[in-house]
Amino acid sequence: MTEDNNKKTEKIQKINGVRGMNDLLPAEALQWAHLEHALRDLTRAYGYEFLRTPIVEATAVFQRGIGEVTDIVEKEMYSFEDRLNGEQLTLRPEGTAAVVRAVIENNLLYEGPKRLWYTGPMFRHERPQRGRYRQFHQFGIEAMGFAGPDIDAEIILMGQRLWDELGLKGVRLEINSLGQADERTQHRTALVKYFEQHAAQLDEDSQRRLTTNPLRILDSKNPAMQAMIEGAPKLLDFLGVESLQHFNAVQTLLKANNIPCKINPRLVRGLDYYNLTVFEWVTDELGAQGTIAGGGRYDPLIERMGGKSAPACGWAMGMERVLELMKVSGSLPESQPQCDIYILHQGGETLIAAMIIAERLRSAGIDVVLFCPPDGQSASFKSQMKKADASGAAYAVIIGPDELARNEAQIKDLRGSGEQQAVAFDQVLEAVIDALVGSSE
Ligand code: HAM
Repeated sequence: MTEDNNKKTEKIQKINGVRGMNDLLPAEALQWAHLEHALRDLTRAYGYEFLRTPIVEATAVFQRGIGEVTDIVEKEMYSFEDRLNGEQLTLRPEGTAAVVRAVIENNLLYEGPKRLWYTGPMFRHERPQRGRYRQFHQFGIEAMGFAGPDIDAEIILMGQRLWDELGLKGVRLEINSLGQADERTQHRTALVKYFEQHAAQLDEDSQRRLTTNPLRILDSKNPAMQAMIEGAPKLLDFLGVESLQHFNAVQTLLKANNIPCKINPRLVRGLDYYNLTVFEWVTDELGAQGTIAGGGRYDPLIERMGGKSAPACGWAMGMERVLELMKVSGSLPESQPQCDIYILHQGGETLIAAMIIAERLRSAGIDVVLFCPPDGQSASFKSQMKKADASGAAYAVIIGPDELARNEAQIKDLRGSGEQQAVAFDQVLEAVIDALVGSSE
């Protein structure tokens, strides 16, 4: 046997998708479209403008933006070298640093503050599990150039409005203030002292963070450390007057708008750019990955990324988690018919007539599926009728050789009476419109 023949008899292996990176299948497409529609309505209602940044950025954008001593930058980024010019590149793990890069590069704050939003895939090399993927999708908003607590409250109101609109149940808002850098320095000194006194209880990660980023130890999920962490000095006790005023003002505005929130002094967020207000929306309905969205103020970031200093704040949500919570809350949209009209034919001349009618109906804004035989030949009307039924179409248009000989088509009601009427070819559009209007009344 020749080598070529050998190859022919080998079973061809299928190639699977990458672990933690999922396909969006047609059955879920409507749900995503529903969510995306709600996001567009929300951003329009508050005057936020859409912006799209590339999926790939220079690695430095995230190293500098998110901070070197964070899980994302230390362990989770998909980074690689451009094989042509040796540039260090990274698949974006989040949107904020990239949006800040784009805002600086395109001088978007030149004419004043900006309210922006974005959506798209993000990449983190985490261990995949329910609600945690290696490619996931975020929707995010970023308000840049605004210093006051009013905008912190506005972006939180947007979140609440969205959860209400989507029918999410069991979402809680947790909020904290990270103060300013000097306040965090004082807190850090006290924190290091406290953790050193409890060094024996620190796990390996936390031992290392004790010198690099002790605040992040508060974020640890290690059950063995929880009681010790509870007793650690709280940053809120180190805040100065201005930081406290900002925090109180945000809470007053939330209260005035009936937004309940819980202060969580241990909420520090996993990214290093934050100051003052930070917050997360959490739920108990999704197991371990219960944070559906999070964000806060990041006043130092624009300057840190090389821009002219400007305050900013924002948040991002995980779209997969929100859709999962919609499912749990029973608020996912019902599946919808794929078309209004399904056209059946018997190939040859009847196909030609069917295609012409299909195009005529589509030009009038009617959604039409034309039967296409899988074997390229033709199929019985019985089997075509099953497909017409499954398509969800309200009416079938049938063109067989007999109809063709009379220059007619049959229009059959698929959902109501099952009645069928013969209509001349040039009357099909009017008859279909009448039927569809009649059935929607
Ligand atoms: P983050 O908390 O890292 O913040 O991510 C925001 C949301 O993205 C999370 O609350 C979660 O719902 C979702 N998410 C994160 N990782 C995954 C994953 N592996 N699989 C599925 N969903 C995930 C940020 O990214 C900040 N840029 C938010 C922000 C905007 N802060 C200010 N402006």
